[in-house]
Amino acid sequence: MSKPVAIITGAASGIGLSLTRHLLSSGWRVAMADRNEEKGRALEKELGPDVMFMKVDVSKYDQQAALFQSAFEWGNGRLDFLAANAGIDDRQSLYEGVLNTLGPPPELNTDCIQVDMIAVLQGVWLLSHYARRNKVPGGKVVITCSGAGIYPMETNPQYTMAKHGLIGLARSAGPRFKEENVTINCILPGFVKTGLAPPEMIDRMPQEYVTPMSTVLRAYDMFLRSSKMTGQAVELSGDQLHFHSVPNYPDEISRWLHEDAKKLWSEVYAVGSAPKSS
Ligand SMILES: NC(=O)c1ccc[n+]([C@@H]2O[C@H](COP(=O)([O-])OP(=O)(O)OC[C@H]3O[C@@H](n4cnc5c(N)ncnc54)[C@H](O)[C@@H]3O)[C@@H](O)[C@H]2O)c1
Repeated sequence: MSKPVAIITGAASGIGLSLTRHLLSSGWRVAMADRNEEKGRALEKELGPDVMFMKVDVSKYDQQAALFQSAFEWGNGRLDFLAANAGIDDRQSLYEGVLNTLGPPPELNTDCIQVDMIAVLQGVWLLSHYARRNKVPGGKVVITCSGAGIYPMETNPQYTMAKHGLIGLARSAGPRFKEENVTINCILPGFVKTGLAPPEMIDRMPQEYVTPMSTVLRAYDMFLRSSKMTGQAVELSGDQLHFHSVPNYPDEISRWLHEDAKKLWSEVYAVGSAPKSS
């Protein structure tokens, strides 16, 4: 039987690179995607024939689409798993003022939203397409969210907004895609020492509050082993995995709207009859 095939975005560093090594040691083939071509090419050489690297900016749809097509062909018509992992922090502060203009300020840089949220949505869209083309239709997505997907991070409102959005995506689409043998789950790592973690923060914080990579890999293994779990958000804190459930409904109206009315919503939004863009 052929080896399972994964796409990992942001694979040239940190969590993505550790996951790449981990999956290779468990018998996977990995299509590594990263915008850092120098590191990616060196890793491709180092890691051997079960790896292919593609220079991809995931926020550009055509590049991400080409990645999926190439990985599917490289896997001989097989794609089992997407680790939607590439991420950056806020590239411009929402709080910085622009004083040297009487008119409106220039547009805020929202690269963080494009990379951390929109690109993940496009990744799920692409994975679902190739999952339908697998010999046995289906596939898995694990999204690298963050504690900022649940708790506000005042210094990084864009990062917080994007990561909150990812949980919404997994919780809404995860259960629905299960009908197609596709699962979508989120991991919410605490502070992990990677390229994204500011070195000043690593130096200043109590080391016992760092979450080890082994916890992150355990969470991936858990979701990869299960064909049942979907729409889950699991916080990784130290050596613990904490599942977060949706909040309790505050009253009967809210409960009805979000539970009993599900059937009505799906009739109104039946695929093919939903209002399309104007
Ligand atoms: N390190 C932490 O403490 C922590 C905590 C919670 C969540 N996360 C999340 O983990 C994920 C991985 O980050 P990391 O901590 O390993 O950081 P990292 O900086 O070490 O790795 C991120 C990788 O993503 C790549 N990348 C960035 N933008 C890209 C783009 N547009 N297209 C393709 N590749 C791109 C970078 O080149 C880099 O190789 C991110 O989504 C991050 O938000 C990290």
